[in-house]
Amino acid sequence: MMQSNPSWQYDEFKTVGRDYGSQSEVDVYDSSHADFRDIKAESNHVLDTLGIKRGDAIIDFGSGTGTFVVEAARRGARVSAVDISQAMLARAKAKADQERVSGIEFHHAGFLTYEYPEGSADAIVTTFAFHHLPDFWKGIALKRIHRMLRLGGQFYMHDVIIEEPCALENIILFINKQEEAGGNFLREDAEGHFRDEFSTYDWAMDELLSRAGFSIIRKHIEGGVLGTYLCKKN
Ligand SMILES: C[S@@+](CC[C@H](N)C(=O)[O-])C[C@H]1O[C@@H](n2cnc3c(N)ncnc32)[C@H](O)[C@@H]1O
Repeated sequence: MMQSNPSWQYDEFKTVGRDYGSQSEVDVYDSSHADFRDIKAESNHVLDTLGIKRGDAIIDFGSGTGTFVVEAARRGARVSAVDISQAMLARAKAKADQERVSGIEFHHAGFLTYEYPEGSADAIVTTFAFHHLPDFWKGIALKRIHRMLRLGGQFYMHDVIIEEPCALENIILFINKQEEAGGNFLREDAEGHFRDEFSTYDWAMDELLSRAGFSIIRKHIEGGVLGTYLCKKN
């Protein structure tokens, strides 16, 4: 098991930026995100990329409304859904019940507090959640994720991650694109993201990942702002 956490550890349960603890945020999440992404299709693409099969142990950090964990469980994986928001966990559980899938354990915890037996996860996934941690704590979280994975286990991350050249120009283009897709709601969502939350440069993320012991197998930064990493524990 993991080492116990210091009393001065970053409080990952406090709200930074958008408050996913609030019921109203949970209620609008799926419909507002449907304006710019198809979460179910994305989830199945991630599961195909990772080659998840029946019996695999997979963790989703920041599982939100649960679309990914439901799709993973449908494939027979043993799934841990981890989120700091009780309201999100409740919504994810309701989705699993509605879809009649089993095999998901729900955990009220986060990147810095979730405990999992060392070396036993086949894959760990996080989408649009890692930016909730400041960079120093991202480094700590990545080391914890690395320890949870078995040798050869995979880590998939998708989030707002910014390329250095033309960073501000690309962010402005992204904010405008979000407004085109979902009006004022998505414009304010994107602006709030860059103002209040902790997205990082891709060069910093590369370094954090490799210092945690990962090999980066594939990396893509769409439009200079939306990053996807597929990594492996060697
Ligand atoms: C933008 S939502 C993403 C949900 C889902 N993964 C998706 O792709 O749609 C961010 C989620 O991360 C959760 N979260 C925030 N900080 C977290 C932390 N430190 N550890 C785990 N989850 C966290 C929030 O409660 C929220 O459910």
